[in-house]
Amino acid sequence: MIKKFLRNCRKPQGWMGRFTVKGMNFGHAVISEWGLSRLEISNDARVLDIGCGGGANIERLLRMCPAGRVDGIDYSEESVAISRKKNSSAIGKHCDIRLGPVSSLPT
Ligand SMILES: C[S@@+](CC[C@H](N)C(=O)[O-])C[C@H]1O[C@@H](n2cnc3c(N)ncnc32)[C@H](O)[C@@H]1O
Repeated sequence: MIKKFLRNCRKPQGWMGRFTVKGMNFGHAVISEWGLSRLEISNDARVLDIGCGGGANIERLLRMCPAGRVDGIDYSEESVAISRKKNSSAIGKHCDIRLGPVSSLPT
């Protein structure tokens, strides 16, 4: 069970993957907000969140760059689905979230 959980942290899959991704959105909030608060980022910046998980950081970055765009990529179908849902109002405008490995970024 612990091995399965750890595998899901690396690549969330199935029901446990969905649970893990939602847990990461919640559990990483404090450290993510601290990390992002250290960035000097212009409001029209273009940002790519690699391994975007459940999309909570994309949501934060979209607030930080209202005149820019924030895209995400993740190789987990569960992560991409949750991330797209979380950022649905920005998708197609200032945001695109793609499924795939970071080793072959789409052009
Ligand atoms: C530990 S989670 C972190 C998620 C998010 N960045 C956060 O801070 O909450 C790692 C995420 O990176 C993704 N990931 C890991 N290796 C990847 C790779 N080579 N290409 C694309 N996504 C990857 C996983 O699917 C997972 O959703």
